[in-house]
Amino acid sequence: MHCIRNITQDLYWIGGNDRRLALFESAYPVPKGVSYNAYLLLDEKTVLLDTVDRSITDQFFENLDHALNGRPLDYVVVHHMEPDHAATLRDLLARRPNVTVVGNQKTLTMFAQFFGQAPANTLVVKEGDTLSLGRHTLTFCMAPMVHWPEVMVSYDSADKVLFSADAFGSFGALDGALFADQVDFDRDWLDEARRYYVNIVGKYGPQVTAALKKLEGLDIRYICPLHGLVWRENLSYIIEKHRLWASYTPEKQGVAIAYASVYGNTQNAAEILAAKLADKGIPTVVFDASMTHYSEILAAFFQYSHIVLASTTYNNGIFTSMEHLLHEMGSHNLQKRTVGLIQNGSWAPASGKLMAALLEPMKDVEVLSPVTLKSSLAQGQEAELEALAEALVSGGTTQAAEEPAAGGKKWVCKICGYVYEGESLPEDYVCPICRRPASDFEPAS
Ligand code: FEO
Repeated sequence: MHCIRNITQDLYWIGGNDRRLALFESAYPVPKGVSYNAYLLLDEKTVLLDTVDRSITDQFFENLDHALNGRPLDYVVVHHMEPDHAATLRDLLARRPNVTVVGNQKTLTMFAQFFGQAPANTLVVKEGDTLSLGRHTLTFCMAPMVHWPEVMVSYDSADKVLFSADAFGSFGALDGALFADQVDFDRDWLDEARRYYVNIVGKYGPQVTAALKKLEGLDIRYICPLHGLVWRENLSYIIEKHRLWASYTPEKQGVAIAYASVYGNTQNAAEILAAKLADKGIPTVVFDASMTHYSEILAAFFQYSHIVLASTTYNNGIFTSMEHLLHEMGSHNLQKRTVGLIQNGSWAPASGKLMAALLEPMKDVEVLSPVTLKSSLAQGQEAELEALAEALVSGGTTQAAEEPAAGGKKWVCKICGYVYEGESLPEDYVCPICRRPASDFEPAS
């Protein structure tokens, strides 16, 4: 049976959910599942915006057939060729051989690589090209490396819809609600949205920033990503989150601690440090790197301003789970953080120096002097943890994004939710997100 949703009068969500997948991309646990979003726009021409992962093939084609209601499919726009969206593209062409595949040159190269032949009917688009469908016109905008080089997004100027590919996506299946304003996003979705961003596109911050810059001038009312919820309210909230993540700016002033401990002594030092930080009023989270998947720890490292890595020495090296975490920090391009170290070793502590060496190539990462344990925290050594806690509280160069000044005046854009802060709203002010004038702002309550 079909399961489709209306977004606007003639735009439909026709995707589906997978709650059985253990590892997304064979790497990332998705305990809350994942959605694969595809959209269908019905105008004088009919256009499908992406296909879906193979796991939901039957549901997707049932949805598509129902939404088309006997009409032919004229176009399929391929924003992204990764198989979690394009695996069913060949099946689509087998079912609907007359459809025209819309993509850029790289899209078509990848199509041939994945499927062994080029599609029969193609429309090659490049930056700024448009496709007229009747009332709607799609404009194409290249977004290379958000997340693959062929990625593009498209914008429907009629209903102000951005089809954003992987951008603005999230892990998590859709529990009935399709729109972000139907859920408690901060409570139930933000952590998975961050974990998705950090691990899937976190490496490509400059490219994400460039794509966000390109979108600045557009009047966007809807964001339709390929995973997760559709945005139609308070768009500036999720855009701002992505601006922070893409620029590696911490969201929160606080400390994320990860430890790798064999017999609990390294853990003990990490716990004492965490307690000292908490007593100083510093938001602190603690992870056992051997128990918590690195994707979750990495997301916390993107969120917090300060990091502590505590590892025992193992085979003259860093304990394996911590070494893996450090490699993931580097390969996801983490930067702009202050990092404290705790090393342990019963006869030749070496993990501190080795962790520092792996942190050294990371941009704008300040490494504090390590605390060294010989088997366990010795009598009198608590002072060294106190000094590290003080250094994390008062030292380090990294700062989280500034919280809005308490008591300051604010105006909210009635269209997109962007918040302007200042003593007064200039008469000629234009919303940086949706380009609406000052008259569309109202004082924040
Ligand atoms: Fe959801 Fe990069 O694929």
